[in-house]
Amino acid sequence: STEGFAVLRQALLVASRSERVRRVVETAPFSDEVVRRFIAGETIEDALRVTGDLTAEGLLVTMDVLGEDTHDKERAEANVQHYVELLERLGAAGLGTRAEVSAKLSALGQTFDEDLALANARRICAAARDAGTTVTLDMEDHTTVDSTLRIVHELRRDFPDVGAVIQAYLRRAEEHCAELAYEGSRVRLCKGAYAAPSAVAFTDREEVDRSFVRCMKVLMAGKGYPMLATHDPRLIEIADALAVLHDRDPGSFEYQMLYGVRPQEQRRLAAQGAQVRVYVAYGREWYPYFMRRLAERPANLRLFLRSLAGR
Ligand code: FDA
Repeated sequence: STEGFAVLRQALLVASRSERVRRVVETAPFSDEVVRRFIAGETIEDALRVTGDLTAEGLLVTMDVLGEDTHDKERAEANVQHYVELLERLGAAGLGTRAEVSAKLSALGQTFDEDLALANARRICAAARDAGTTVTLDMEDHTTVDSTLRIVHELRRDFPDVGAVIQAYLRRAEEHCAELAYEGSRVRLCKGAYAAPSAVAFTDREEVDRSFVRCMKVLMAGKGYPMLATHDPRLIEIADALAVLHDRDPGSFEYQMLYGVRPQEQRRLAAQGAQVRVYVAYGREWYPYFMRRLAERPANLRLFLRSLAGR
């Protein structure tokens, strides 16, 4: 039932932040097969190989180094260096025109020092520019939204192509879309993957979907570059219709989907002439990302529970 699912989803999102559950899940023997569906591997080599394969098929990619909620400077520094190395290798491999990176500010120090996170993000943007590509800053927990939008705004003075993310489940999403729908502004629209209270977020799935449509209308009617991140067939159909309505050519917006989710649909859209970008996450810290993917879909959860039971 929908209600049962909502309870489960909440439980999984709570577990995504638990150290204890994390230890159990990370060391359990079942992990590999299920995890591999969503994570491109642990190393830069793994991720570049997957990215090379996807781009050879005509898809675009955004690469994400797993890791979030960093609580010290050294760790944040290591994360920046990892991104810089990734971008150097991406550029050297000639993938800069087809693959960009996504980064989480909480991995760069946002949790304890906003200025540090800004400075670190700036270094990643500079490395991306050198590699001929761009950066999109993922949106995280609702408490970080204002800080993240401030940082995006600041970065865009020097790097106008930095991508922002709006989560449709937030009540202020439509307002934020209107503010961001200007010339050259790259905006990813997604439903939102974190636990958020009803004071700030729509909690009913249909309300979230309706908000997504309102946001999409604003972005597609606007002057920016919408990046529509969803696997939802109904929303993709509405996006198609809005593109026709606003006479948008296929190069003026893109669809985005996660690696491992609806791969046939990604190829179907690309074969129709649409731009489709796949979000390729890799690295050792896959646990919270993986748990959010489980929370999104009962079928994924069943798969996970079956492997837990050893079947
Ligand atoms: P939802 O999960 O409601 O699924 C809708 C429908 O899609 C399903 O009913 C089914 O038909 C189909 N579907 C979904 N999964 C499927 C599967 N595995 N197999 C087959 N069909 C499937 N979140 C966030 O908070 N901050 C961020 O920065 C980002 N970034 C981001 C980037 C990209 C590229 C994507 C695709 C997503 C994000 N997200 C995110 C995650 C996002 O907020 C959301 O949690 C997931 O995309 C799931 O929502 P959907 O829109 O896919 O719909």
